[in-house]
Amino acid sequence: MKATAIASPNIAIVKYWGKRDERLKLPMNDSISVTLDRSLYSETTVEFSKAFSADSMQLDGAEASEREMKNVALVLDCLRKKAKTGMNARIISRNNFPKSSGMASSASGYAALSAAAAAALNLQLDSRELSIAARLGSGSASRSVIGGFAWWKKGQDEDGSDSYAVQVADESHWKDFRIVTAVVSEEKKPVSSTDGMKLTLETSSLYRERLKKLPGTVSRVRQAILGRDAGQLFRLAMEESDSLHASMADTKPPLIYINESSREIMKRVNELNRENGMIAGYSFDAGPNAHIFTTEQNVNRVIHSIKGLAERIVASSPGKGAEVVA
Ligand code: DP6
Repeated sequence: MKATAIASPNIAIVKYWGKRDERLKLPMNDSISVTLDRSLYSETTVEFSKAFSADSMQLDGAEASEREMKNVALVLDCLRKKAKTGMNARIISRNNFPKSSGMASSASGYAALSAAAAAALNLQLDSRELSIAARLGSGSASRSVIGGFAWWKKGQDEDGSDSYAVQVADESHWKDFRIVTAVVSEEKKPVSSTDGMKLTLETSSLYRERLKKLPGTVSRVRQAILGRDAGQLFRLAMEESDSLHASMADTKPPLIYINESSREIMKRVNELNRENGMIAGYSFDAGPNAHIFTTEQNVNRVIHSIKGLAERIVASSPGKGAEVVA
């Protein structure tokens, strides 16, 4: 009972920040993301056996941490329940990209884990059930199950059965869409997303305002994706990232994830747009690295404009969702 799956990271255009249920990872708001192509992926093999006395996981050759194993157990328990089995699992996961690529591996990792574990247990799950299983590992993983542009609906049910990602448009819908990632720092973030979002929810009044605004943003971003309205999408993405980082700064004590180089990148992207029309939009997660949305014809211009500010720059296209490969 063994299977292998791959999945790629996703970058949120409308960000997930704050949970209404910590354990089930039920979010305070809907979010929208683009899944990246297979130049970046996590590959995870899961084997179930009666011979294993406990679950175990190796991540890029090292034993997973206690916190990771707790999240892994939530994913596995959800799938074991469906398969009516108590067997333990041995998991081997690796990323084809280093942490220093500026890309978090938890979304792709838990999406690949869910797909591999479901296949190993011979479960025929639809994307809703897979997205829910991946969400239990890490919220943003619910979106990496889906290819192209994904919309994670927060849902209302207490058990999380209506909190999963659906596809807005597949990876071939917007062929010249690009995501340029600029790595400005390889340092580990001081406060994890999990801890940071909890603090913001508990202490920021600006965050309350942000939540009121988000349903409108989600619907405008969906329309911009469906209509391939690049200018509108880039403008909304920057506004949304700025709103997230304002709430982070309003957290007590303040959460400052971006640095001087990030701010300089924001300035350069704004200058670029002033000179050329809306051709790019920056977006920052819980860290200083920039994700810049643009189109193929402007990738070089974007890269040129931020020269000297990044240690590494990677350009990606929209890509596929999680897939079982063996
Ligand atoms: C800023 O999905 O890593 O990247 O659910 O606690 O594992 P947990 O958090 P995680 O948070 C991602 C936060 C973000 C925004 C986003 O990807 O939507």
